Amino acid sequence: MRILLLGAGGREHALAWKLTQSPSCSQLFIAPGNAGTALCGTNISISLNDFEKIKAACISENINMVIVGPEDPLVNGIVNYLQQEPALEELHIIGPSREAAMLEGSKAFAKVFMQKNNIPTAAYKEFTIDNYADGVRYLQQHSLPVVLKADGLASGKGVVICQNHLEAVAEFELMIQRAKFGEAGKRVVVEAFLDGIELSVFVLTDGNGYVILPEAKDYKKVGEGDTGLNTGGMGAVSPVSFADKSFMQKVEQQIIKPTIQGLKDDNLKYHGFVFIGLMKVGDDPFVIEYNCRMGDPETEVVMPRLKNDLALLMKATAEGKLHTVQIETDKRFACTIMAVSGGYPNEHATGFEITGLEDLYDDHSLVFYAAVKKENDQLYTNGGRIFCITSFGETVAEASGRSKEKLAGVHFNGMYYRGDIGFEFT
Ligand code: AMP
Ligand code: GLY
Repeated sequence: MRILLLGAGGREHALAWKLTQSPSCSQLFIAPGNAGTALCGTNISISLNDFEKIKAACISENINMVIVGPEDPLVNGIVNYLQQEPALEELHIIGPSREAAMLEGSKAFAKVFMQKNNIPTAAYKEFTIDNYADGVRYLQQHSLPVVLKADGLASGKGVVICQNHLEAVAEFELMIQRAKFGEAGKRVVVEAFLDGIELSVFVLTDGNGYVILPEAKDYKKVGEGDTGLNTGGMGAVSPVSFADKSFMQKVEQQIIKPTIQGLKDDNLKYHGFVFIGLMKVGDDPFVIEYNCRMGDPETEVVMPRLKNDLALLMKATAEGKLHTVQIETDKRFACTIMAVSGGYPNEHATGFEITGLEDLYDDHSLVFYAAVKKENDQLYTNGGRIFCITSFGETVAEASGRSKEKLAGVHFNGMYYRGDIGFEFT
C-alpha cells in the first residue's frame, strides 16, 4: 500500500513511525510533515487545506490510502472532496465525512446527537445573538462553576470555565457580541460543570463495527500540579488505572455503542478514529467532547502500546472489516513528556537550535518530533510544542523517570517540560 498521511505534529510522527513497521506499507508520504516524519517517509510540502494539491498528489503518487491526522481538513470536508474524484474511486480514506466530523466541528451538534442517543453528558442549553437575553438570565441563575463553549473549532481554546456569574456573563458577551472565538464561536453552549477525572477513549469505526484502542490521560495545563493555562497537551500516560474493566464496560455500553449506532441511524459516514473525551464522575462516565481524530499527545502513547499492524488496521477500517480484528496491546505503562518553548502557550520565540535530540531511541524510549524543522543538518524549534519523549515502564513512575532521563540530555533555549506527568499514578 502507498499511504499518504496528512498532518505535521507529534501525532503524525507517531502514526508515521507505526506505519513504517507495517510490511504492507510499501511507501509512506506525509503532507506537510515535519523533521520527524521525514525520518519515516517522504514529506510533501502541501498545506492541509489545499485539497486540490492533495488530490493531485494522490493521483500522481498512486496513493491507495489517505490517513487524515488533524481535525481542520476533516471538518472542511476533505473526505467528501476526495471521494467525489472519479480518478480516486479506489482510494481508501481514513476519517469521517464532513457531516460526521460535525461531532467535533460543532459542540451544539454534538450535544443534540448525545441527547438524541441518550449518551450521558452535562446538562446544557445553546445560545446565539437571537436569544442573548435568555442566555444572560440562564447564566445568572446557573449553578457554579459554569462552562461556556464556543460552538466551532477554536484550536482547543474555546472552553471557558467560570467561577462566578459576573465573569460568566462577561465571557458570554465577549463570545457572542464581540466574536472572541470568531464567527463559529458566536453560538455558545452553556453547560453544567462536571466534577471528576478526565480520560481519553479512542475508538476506531468502520461505520458498522468498532474496536477500542488503548485509553490515555493527557495533561492539558502548562504548570505542574495541573496549574496555569491550557495548552495543546503537555504529556500523556496509558493505560489509565482508574479505567478498569467495570468502568470501561460502562463506557462501551453507555457511550461507544450508542455513538456508533447513532452515526449509523443518521447516515453519518465514518471510517476512522473517534476520540471521546470523558469525565469520570463518581463511578460513571460522561462525555465532555467528541473529536473526529486521534489526540495529541495521546497518540504518542497509544501507538507505541498498540501491537497490531497499523496499515492493516486502517485497511480493515476502510473495508468495513473491523469485526475480524482483535486489538492487542503492550501491557506496560507508556508515558510521554512534551518539551515546549519557553513562554508557551503565550507568545514565545522560536528558531532555536536543538541539541541532543538524535539517537535517543532505545528499548524503552522513543522520540516524536512536533514543531521541529531541519536546516543544513541542524534541528531548530519551530512552534510551541517541540517534541516529546515516550518511555515504557513497569510503572508510570518508571516510564516517566526514563523520559526525564532522556530529556536531561536535550537542550534548546528556553526549553520547558512538566516533570510531573502521570503524578496521580505514582
Ligand atoms: P474541550 O475543548 O471540550 O476539550 O474542553 C477543554 C477542557 O475543559 C476539558 O479538557 C475539560 O478539562 C474542561 N471541560 C470541558 N467541559 C467541561 C465540563 N462540562 N465540566 C468540567 N470541565 C469541563
Ligand atoms: N489531547 C487533546 C486533543 O488532542 O485534543
